Amino acid sequence: MYANITSVGKFLPKNIIKNSEFENFLDTTDEWIKSRTGIEERRKLDPGKASSYMAIKAIEKLIKKIKLDIHQVDCIIVSTITPDMVFPSTACLIQNYFKIKNCWGFDLSAACSGFLFGLETANALIKSKIYKKIIVVGVDTMSSILDYQDRNTSILFGDGAGAVLVEPSKNYGIIDCELGVDGSGSEFLFMPGGGSLNKTSEKTLKNKMHYVKQNGAVVFKHAVKGMYDITKKIMLRNDINNKNLKLFIAHQANKRIIESTSQRLKLKKEQVLININKYANTTAASIPIAISDACDKKLIKKNDKIILTAFGAGFTWGSCLLKWGISSD
Ligand code: UT7
Repeated sequence: MYANITSVGKFLPKNIIKNSEFENFLDTTDEWIKSRTGIEERRKLDPGKASSYMAIKAIEKLIKKIKLDIHQVDCIIVSTITPDMVFPSTACLIQNYFKIKNCWGFDLSAACSGFLFGLETANALIKSKIYKKIIVVGVDTMSSILDYQDRNTSILFGDGAGAVLVEPSKNYGIIDCELGVDGSGSEFLFMPGGGSLNKTSEKTLKNKMHYVKQNGAVVFKHAVKGMYDITKKIMLRNDINNKNLKLFIAHQANKRIIESTSQRLKLKKEQVLININKYANTTAASIPIAISDACDKKLIKKNDKIILTAFGAGFTWGSCLLKWGISSD
């Protein structure tokens, strides 16, 4: 038995921030951002709204596609590093919005790898045969933790959400998945304030500890190696190559990272999905948004083999091979 994705949905806020807008208040240019990252624009959520809002909108799309009876959902996994609040979990807020009966859920923190960690958790829960309909959401309101005076980070991220429904299947779904963590990378991408170590205070605010900090060059190198190594392993043990793989969907953090990784894997251009130009890095939302884009553009059809891979803060990383199970018509 496989754990199969049976419906997908995404939500992007309407408010578009173009690279050129950053030129007004930062020492940067549209040209630098485009050439170093591939990003052209990103979305920003309106003030007063939060991650649960975007997650609910993405789930509503997923429900509509297959006319899902939401009360059959038995678990909600929300991958995010920007929950509405530290507690209660965003999963509880989503359950309450839909008033789902007999369901449990939780938030999962694995930064940019969050969606893959959520998907593999759903895979194990489905294989336990205890759970039959699991929603996995990747959502992040990165604008809530960005320092807009820091050109190293503020230009990189965007807001968004993507959601999938995971159900048992005899023929389609997750064929293989491998994940990893290495906490020695924690000093290169992190947010020091707001947790139990540096509780919010005048000092943490003054020192801007409630914002994302990143050593981009170090993360860049680890991201290429991390995604290449683990994807190569998955490809080798499942006889996957550039002839039988339909689509490679990597976490959208930097176009150069995706190109470098896919070139090392000897994949062809048309096998690689890139949408970072439109949305920037949406952290846990990037992969489910990309899956949703691939479906909307009919880039994948039933029986196609696809690979999802991610790398992010922690460090965390992973790769997942699927036999796609949703028909494209
Ligand atoms: O999603 C989670 C994982 N995150 C990632 O995978 C991100 C990985 N890292 C990256 O994508 C890239 O490292 C960045 C896009 C963040 C930076 O690109 P880079 O080619 O690695 O640049 P760099 O950090 O080595 O900086 C090169 C120069 C520096 O100037 P100096 O020191 O050479 O004078 C930076 O200060 O570019 C400068 N710079 C900028 N210039 C204009 C950094 N940010 C900007 C900017 N505009 N926004």
